[in-house]
Amino acid sequence: MVNIIDGSAVAGRLREEMAAEIKVMKAQNGIAPGLAVILVGEDPASQVYVRNKEKACEAVGIASFEYRLPTSATQAELFDLVSRLNNDKLVHGILVQLPLPSHIKESEIIAAVDPVKDVDGFHPVNVGKLSSGLPGLVPCTPQGCMILIKEVLSDLRGLRALVVGRSNIVGKPMAQLLLQADCTVTTAHSKTRDLPGECLQADILVAAIGKPEFIKGDWIKPGATVIDVGINRLKTEDGKNKLVGDVDFAAAYERAFAITPVPGGVGPMTIACLLRNTVQAARNINGL
Ligand code: GUN
Repeated sequence: MVNIIDGSAVAGRLREEMAAEIKVMKAQNGIAPGLAVILVGEDPASQVYVRNKEKACEAVGIASFEYRLPTSATQAELFDLVSRLNNDKLVHGILVQLPLPSHIKESEIIAAVDPVKDVDGFHPVNVGKLSSGLPGLVPCTPQGCMILIKEVLSDLRGLRALVVGRSNIVGKPMAQLLLQADCTVTTAHSKTRDLPGECLQADILVAAIGKPEFIKGDWIKPGATVIDVGINRLKTEDGKNKLVGDVDFAAAYERAFAITPVPGGVGPMTIACLLRNTVQAARNINGL
């Protein structure tokens, strides 16, 4: 029997845990965790994400503050806003929705966020902490992937893990987390030679490429755990939209020990981990 890892169910449990913790924080310490989300421009996908984040915050009792800036906003305006939020006592987490318009230097804005409020875990201080094995805020999507892997594997020590994709948001922090769990980690990317051969050796395969059904079923090592980070829109023959991952699910299912579906796998975990990071930041800031 293949395990289909139910990310929606795991995320639901995590959200319930967060709601309970927030209730206690409010009652015992008078603290309501607050998350500020900054959205610059009109990117439709980003607008959907931001709306979902707000709904999720409200559902667990996190105060949500939204800042929408026009595409024409300057870097200086964005710096000013981030600086104000860094000093705002009601705000424990700051998330700047990416991508930013091309005239804004993303890395400079990320570096302007106070690392203790950096619930994305993208600030160089948090990146450094993760790679040094120090406690810090960990990027949400890879954090969610680790939780899903641990749902089906109790001991990762010595397993071969392959991360396909080397982005700062997913691939690189994912590799760090797997290394921390004592996996033997390889990161593959667009210049990797013999990607099928690399995949065939992987006990754990994390696909974060952003190309629909790029990883084929016969690349999967029999008995592997497959984590699919991809969310790609495909048009079906009858003209309908369909969401697919970076892995050919139906074929990979035939060989895997466990696999995440798309939708309903990694996707719901990202926001659940954002709520978790916001609660963590509120706790850290208040010395709890
Ligand atoms: N854009 C796509 N994924 C993310 C994410 O995890 N955080 C932020 N801030 N922007 C994103």
